[in-house]
Amino acid sequence: MTKQLITSALPYVNGLPHLGHLVGCLLPADVYARYQRVLGEEVLYVCGTDEHGTPSEVGAAKENMPVDEYCKKYHDLHVEMYRGFNLGFDYFGRTSSDQNKEITYRIFHALDKNGFIEEKTTKQVYSPDDGRYLPDSYVMGTCPHCGYEKAKGDQCENCTKILDPTDLINPKSVLSGSSNLEIRETRHLFLQLPKIEAELDQWIETKKGLWPDIAYSIAKKWLKEGLKERGITRDLKWGFSVPKEGFENKVFYVWFDAPIGYIGITKQWSDEKPTERNWEDWWLKPDEVRYTEFMGKDNIPYHTISFPATLKGTGENWKTVDFLKGMNYLNFAGGKFSKSAHRGIFLDDAIREFPADYWRYWLIANAPESDDTNFSFDQFAAVVNKDLNDVLGNFINRVLKMTEKNFGCQVPAIGAITENEKELYQTLDNLIADYKRYMDGLEFRKAMSTLREIWVSGNNYIAKTEPWKVVKTNLEYGATILGTALNMIRLFANLSAPVMPETAQKMLALVGAEKTPVWPTEKMETYLKELPAGKAFTPSDPLFQKILPERVEELKIKYKETEA
Ligand code: MF3
Ligand code: ZN
Repeated sequence: MTKQLITSALPYVNGLPHLGHLVGCLLPADVYARYQRVLGEEVLYVCGTDEHGTPSEVGAAKENMPVDEYCKKYHDLHVEMYRGFNLGFDYFGRTSSDQNKEITYRIFHALDKNGFIEEKTTKQVYSPDDGRYLPDSYVMGTCPHCGYEKAKGDQCENCTKILDPTDLINPKSVLSGSSNLEIRETRHLFLQLPKIEAELDQWIETKKGLWPDIAYSIAKKWLKEGLKERGITRDLKWGFSVPKEGFENKVFYVWFDAPIGYIGITKQWSDEKPTERNWEDWWLKPDEVRYTEFMGKDNIPYHTISFPATLKGTGENWKTVDFLKGMNYLNFAGGKFSKSAHRGIFLDDAIREFPADYWRYWLIANAPESDDTNFSFDQFAAVVNKDLNDVLGNFINRVLKMTEKNFGCQVPAIGAITENEKELYQTLDNLIADYKRYMDGLEFRKAMSTLREIWVSGNNYIAKTEPWKVVKTNLEYGATILGTALNMIRLFANLSAPVMPETAQKMLALVGAEKTPVWPTEKMETYLKELPAGKAFTPSDPLFQKILPERVEELKIKYKETEA
């Protein structure tokens, strides 16, 4: 059995996460990790906050806090929000940890020893009024190509042309607005990607047909354009100081130590849990591990090019990615989520409005896989009302009520089966195989629509067999129908557990089944008879509640959906 290593892109610590972040990587990774656990695989799902870089320094200054305290404060908030959504990380760490520093230094020294690090003098914007060097995106001015007045020094948002801060007309500091800017010379270290290009290209070739097309083609496109050397140091205070003579006053660039954070965070985990496997089992024994990464599409180049090149350049046997899932964006009312404009739904608000499973199901069923998608409360309510209430919830309620009424709160004995059951077994066997194939391939939308069909088959079975009539004339067959249906509640729980862990737990408890979800490996002919006859079940209130039209209107106003 291979071990399953799963990572989600590490969210920036500053700025709090919204639904777009959740569906962009954290949640699909969680669903996949839970799925692998239900299958019985050994899984390690790690994530954490990405803490270095200018935005952390600037954020801390705004709140008048030391940067480390600021990061700790926001790290803790991330942890709390993710807990609310039942993200089941094995460990949620920090890129600023000592462990990550240790691994970053180890990798840097290996790259340096192998001749992949070179020094160069560069020109950088310095702002005396801010007392700091400004990263390209912190310089703003007029675009020389299109005249857009708020172009940033790395790229014009309006015409998308790539810029240098020195290209801008009337450049200003984004931080202070000061136009008193200097160009200073400063020395930096560069990772020589062109020297690793050939090895990388060979490796990426082996991923053809294995990686999703979008990941493979983005990586190939970069290679075709030719890789450029990449600066890996910055003139900042917050970060890992560079362990090389003459560079001690600089720090590593955030994108250098962030992906290494996957490894550093694994080491945090194994240092804290000495009884668990050592981190090296996950990262230095590549043949024993299958590694799946989740990320937003903008992160694909870092994960297919820079990070693998960084690892390969060490000459050590680091684990590199086997499969990656890049997600598109979730928009809100046709536009971007924006903290500053208070537009969109942030996780702390979301969890106050509805239970985690409503969000989890909606987000995964509507995951922005092949295209950007849009969140709207109308659509959210429609899905919750239909799929969760009318289909799944209604099935469970009816079955429990009818059984209680006719047989008391215990599983009725399943007797002789008919064509109806045979047809049901066949339908479910097929749908479960489809569902598994989609989950294995991380095709979440298709997986969820198949899961929904599986739930629907429960209602179809009840509609077709009409147990409320059958019990009046043929109590024995009535018992078979309702016994089968109770077994289906167990089945639905185990299949739904990756996406709706809390609800699945409740469903398993209702019918007195196993406490930890397990994948149904038997054929339905066997599986749907496994709850022992006579076993007590618990009557229950409905598992889901509908979202009424008045509530939808309120939410639209509260979250400014209509103003967009
Ligand atoms: N913080 C980055 C972002 O949100 C992602 C970092 S992923 C890692 O875009 F690989 F660098 F960790
Ligand atoms: Zn422009």
